[in-house]
Amino acid sequence: MRVPTLLVTGARGQVGHEVEAAFTRAGWQVTAVGHRELDVTDGEAVAAALHGLRPTAVVNAAAWTDVDACEAAPDRARRVNALGVRHLAAASAAAGAFLCHLSTDHVFDGTQAAPYREDDAPHPLSAYGRSKWEGEQEAGPGACVVRTSWVCGRHGDNAVTTILRLAGQPERPLAFVDDQRGCLTVDSDLAGTLLRLVTDRRAGLHHVTGQGPATWYEIARRVLAAAGHDPDRVRPVATAELRPPRAAPRPANGVLDNAVLRREGIPLLPPVEESLPALVAELRAAQRW
Ligand SMILES: NC(=O)c1ccc[n+]([C@@H]2O[C@H](COP(=O)([O-])OP(=O)(O)OC[C@H]3O[C@@H](n4cnc5c(N)ncnc54)[C@H](OP(=O)(O)O)[C@@H]3O)[C@@H](O)[C@H]2O)c1
Repeated sequence: MRVPTLLVTGARGQVGHEVEAAFTRAGWQVTAVGHRELDVTDGEAVAAALHGLRPTAVVNAAAWTDVDACEAAPDRARRVNALGVRHLAAASAAAGAFLCHLSTDHVFDGTQAAPYREDDAPHPLSAYGRSKWEGEQEAGPGACVVRTSWVCGRHGDNAVTTILRLAGQPERPLAFVDDQRGCLTVDSDLAGTLLRLVTDRRAGLHHVTGQGPATWYEIARRVLAAAGHDPDRVRPVATAELRPPRAAPRPANGVLDNAVLRREGIPLLPPVEESLPALVAELRAAQRW
């Protein structure tokens, strides 16, 4: 039987790293390209890469994810997060490859009280959110589009590594917002579900997040507790109190209902009470704090 092959873009990022690891473990032959090896905004380079490799599937983990910087440079955000996807979708179709593209809870405005399902209408508040919503549409109906949220893991800097770093400075006041609610997602858990969705060639929208909504304040408390610090050191603040204020608005409710996974009988990701202490322990073992 032919070994399935994968091209993963944005492979030096958090999710890209774990996608490379999960597919390799599962016996796929993986070509993992970072920004320097393949710039997704370069249509000719994307077409040439797909034409040369003719992979079974492509996972697009490349994105400009600096939400606040996107606000000041919406054209650049659109080039990477939307036009890059257009190039990948066209080249994947030409090469007969199945495309899996990652998106975000920032496609929603967060004003709905209930968790967002895949069939709720997007209404992004920020340049990042608009560029990602456009990217979803560029991926096309034959692609698997996976919306996730609040990604953290072992590679690179993320909210959990930041909380751990600040927690290690006893004199440092710790304040986190308690008016933004979402679901923390550990990237290695996410990569396992991406493997399943790509292997099954499941087209369409899928919400894939860790289970158990929480605010950043609640997550910071959990991180401190898992790391052996006093969680009462964390003070709740409102987004409006942040100084300096953030350039980009965030959805107050970014909770994604994983409705399609449930309907299709695909196991949900673990609850945050399990995944967060496990991640903190892994970061400790890797001497990241
Ligand atoms: N992080 C989150 O909390 C979060 C939440 C929801 C959804 N997502 C989505 O999940 C996906 C993966 O995010 P992540 O957390 O892994 O982000 P990440 O760690 O920032 O990784 C993204 C990678 O894309 C690369 N990249 C940027 N511009 C590129 C270009 N023009 N061509 C090729 N590569 C490019 C970056 O390289 P350089 O740094 O060298 O430019 C970076 O290595 C993205 O689609 C993101 O929108 C993330």
